[in-house]
Amino acid sequence: MPDNLKSVPVLSSEITPKHLYMNRRDFLKAAGILTGSAVLAACVPQVSSTQSAGPSASGKTDELGDPVNSYEDITNYNNYYEFSTNKEAVAPLSKDFKTHPWTVEVGGLVSKPKIYAIEDLMSMFPQEERIYRLRCVEAWSMVIPWSGFSLASLLKAVEPLSKAKYVRFETLFDPKQMQGEGSPFYPWPYQEGLRLDEAMNDLAILATGLYGEALPAQDGAPIRLVVPWKYGFKSIKAIVKIELTDTKPSTLWSTVAPNEYGFYANVNPNVDHPRWSQASERRIGELARRPTLMFNGYSDQVAHLYDGMDLALNY
Ligand code: MTE
Repeated sequence: MPDNLKSVPVLSSEITPKHLYMNRRDFLKAAGILTGSAVLAACVPQVSSTQSAGPSASGKTDELGDPVNSYEDITNYNNYYEFSTNKEAVAPLSKDFKTHPWTVEVGGLVSKPKIYAIEDLMSMFPQEERIYRLRCVEAWSMVIPWSGFSLASLLKAVEPLSKAKYVRFETLFDPKQMQGEGSPFYPWPYQEGLRLDEAMNDLAILATGLYGEALPAQDGAPIRLVVPWKYGFKSIKAIVKIELTDTKPSTLWSTVAPNEYGFYANVNPNVDHPRWSQASERRIGELARRPTLMFNGYSDQVAHLYDGMDLALNY
């Protein structure tokens, strides 16, 4: 890491949320593990997540058969630096975040730029449920039942010009509501970007709901991107602007620490983060680590987008 970045707070490494830690302690105590009997981590049975305090999605799994995480985990273990760098503080700090009225400006290199009210987006583009894995760069993951609509359907509606090659996304800048935006360490507003062909892939969605209900503020209400084959930091929250460009957009994390967070950010177990391995991950609510899958398990749908590219250079 360059010297001038040494004091810059970057994505913290994995921290276990307190309620899961307590579960684990209870489990270990019950299993006699805290009293001294040694076990191999791989032999320890998995604990299920805490009982959900919110709506139930009982029995739902992703296409690999893994159960969705509890509503409580999904809504109380959040990365959202505009509110806090502490994952468990985001939910209480964002509880009064104003998500109405809300507009999303879609423009740049398009024939039909438009400012959409959030209600119009939700009625124009049919909402569907997509159960996706979210793999955070910090090597934890969750399975989340989103509802939303395909990003491609919105991009097609504004008619990209042939010069358009990238899509840039921007989060609301409102330091009165989002106290973290007062931090001088980050180039606010949060920005992200995709290549246009990535953005047009059917897996990429704009999510407006979770567990069949409106998206909670801490998860990016009223509208956030979900790009399931990329590390979670690409999935930008509280979007107010989408711009088509001919040059690669700068992104918050690749500006703060370019050697750690690339533009592509495809989930790749073979390319380590400079400070930790990306070969495995901890599914929130489980004890044993599981191997990380190439493109987070979505290779069939997206590997072709990167044919001929060196993914170690284009991390
Ligand atoms: N979007 C904004 N605007 N600000 C953020 O700090 N964090 C990212 C991403 N989107 C972030 C953001 C990171 S690092 C992750 S892992 C995911 O949101 C987490 O989404 P979740 O809290 O809904 O699980």
